[in-house]
Amino acid sequence: MANKKIGIITSGGDAPGMNAAVRSIVRTGIYNGFDLIGFKRGFKGLLDGEYLNLTVRSVSGTINLGGTKLHTGRCPEMKTSIGLNKAVKIIKEMNLEGLVVIGGDGSLAAANALSKHGIKAISIPASIDNDVFGTDETIGYDTALNTAVEAIDKIRDTANSHDRVFVVEIMGREHGFLTLAVGMAAGVEVIIVPEVKINRKELYMQLKQGFINGKTSLIIAYAEGCGSSVQFAQEVAKNTGMDVRVSNLGYIQRGGTPTARTRILASVFGAHAVKLLKEGKSNLLVGITNGKISYTPIKTAISSEKTFDIESYNILKKLSI
Ligand code: F6P
Repeated sequence: MANKKIGIITSGGDAPGMNAAVRSIVRTGIYNGFDLIGFKRGFKGLLDGEYLNLTVRSVSGTINLGGTKLHTGRCPEMKTSIGLNKAVKIIKEMNLEGLVVIGGDGSLAAANALSKHGIKAISIPASIDNDVFGTDETIGYDTALNTAVEAIDKIRDTANSHDRVFVVEIMGREHGFLTLAVGMAAGVEVIIVPEVKINRKELYMQLKQGFINGKTSLIIAYAEGCGSSVQFAQEVAKNTGMDVRVSNLGYIQRGGTPTARTRILASVFGAHAVKLLKEGKSNLLVGITNGKISYTPIKTAISSEKTFDIESYNILKKLSI
């Protein structure tokens, strides 16, 4: 009898550790008697019938690679009933036992829609934004966090030398999860995130007070979801008379060698996704909650908002005096 087949998709914005997750699914899948295939370029590869047979050796030497060797993409077609029905038909024709979708919010929505049509789909959260409900941490987040902290450490050198203020723009879509963690680890003076409304007057006073208190630089970690960092910096300069520069960390946050933590998370998530499919489960997100592996219905994950850690935000405020 032929082995049952599992399909793997990396979807949405790439995140370091996606390759480690694919490797884990392939290896644990084969160990459990499945055949594995990887669709190329996210859901587009599924709709176009573009896929690879993934063998044990095909994932050798990939645990340490950033990006995704399967390639990725955002696929608007999956949001239409025509695209969705086409995907369901293809999966049934290919006789897939199930699908593991590695990605962020958009990927979860597609996995949920497929589940509603009777396709077994398991999601693995991967996004540098760490904005997925149902997991304390997404694959790639720790790597992006370390990349951004390293960059700010460098910016601090030049900021100190010139007694400057820097507005450093951090990715995160409409959330400030990554910015908060980066700000905490880099020891920035201020973080600006969509989740917390700030009083501009107080901010300007705080910045001025910083230099009065003997600081030789001020760093503001600014979440991209708060609007133009350039405009914000101009307003800070105008209202404080300070020398302000902007540094947008941009896409370097998405690339690079995954950290050990990211690789471990990806490896464990991958193994659990296979376990769930083997048990015949579907529509579940594999995550980590309070240090333990957790499973959350995908429909719950997409209809819930992850909570912003206001306590850490307040601690950061105290640390930046
Ligand atoms: O979701 C990851 C992310 O890098 C966000 O932080 C950012 O807003 C977005 O993707 C950028 O997406 P794109 O690759 O489409 O420019």
